[in-house]
Amino acid sequence: MKKLSFLPLALALIFTVLIIESCSKKASTNPTPVTTKATLYDSLGGTKLMADPAYPGAMIETGRLAVRSVIDSTIFVIAGDTRINGHFMVLLSEVSKGNLSGFTDLSENLTTFVSGAAGAKDYIYIGLSMADAHNPAVNSRINGKVANADFDAFISDVVTGATKNKVPANLINSVGALLGTLRSQVVQM
Ligand code: HEM
Repeated sequence: MKKLSFLPLALALIFTVLIIESCSKKASTNPTPVTTKATLYDSLGGTKLMADPAYPGAMIETGRLAVRSVIDSTIFVIAGDTRINGHFMVLLSEVSKGNLSGFTDLSENLTTFVSGAAGAKDYIYIGLSMADAHNPAVNSRINGKVANADFDAFISDVVTGATKNKVPANLINSVGALLGTLRSQVVQM
């Protein structure tokens, strides 16, 4: 009889140990929080929507607007850059006649391509491959093949375009490095 008087106490002890054990197990099996690395596109403003200054009433992702602003400035810089503007004669001739359709298409294609390369997910590039876009035998809009020096000039014009848009220096370096990875597809001589 005396032995039985310890039974409730012993059961309570075992019960408590089991509860503590199960709680500590729960804590250690919590799923690891999913962390995604910020992309260059995120650093440029990412997917946050804002009013598109060029199209009243329309919204645009902040990252895409940043890329488009740099691209549009760069096209203007290239237009005045005698080192490489000879490659863009079709475009420049159209623009000089007041026809902006080629400019709009190039701005759209380059913006989508660079945004995608920087990490954008919501826009799909459906233009020519980099090799085809810069092969005059395939793309009649490019005057002549691109040399290494042309590529360097193009990158320096992008840096000028980005600087005009007050893109921080570290991000300009990242854009330059990203474009640099495409040299072998663009330079074909
Ligand atoms: C990494 C660097 C470059 C990228 C990402 C790039 C990207 C592009 C893209 C996306 C297009 C449009 C393709 C299409 O219409 O489907 C294009 C067209 C073109 N690119 Fe590049 N490009 C680069 C470098 C260069 C360089 C160095 C030159 C010459 C100096 C050049 C000259 C042209 C020309 C002339 C066109 C046709 C423009 C037009 O449609 O009027 N690109 N490029």
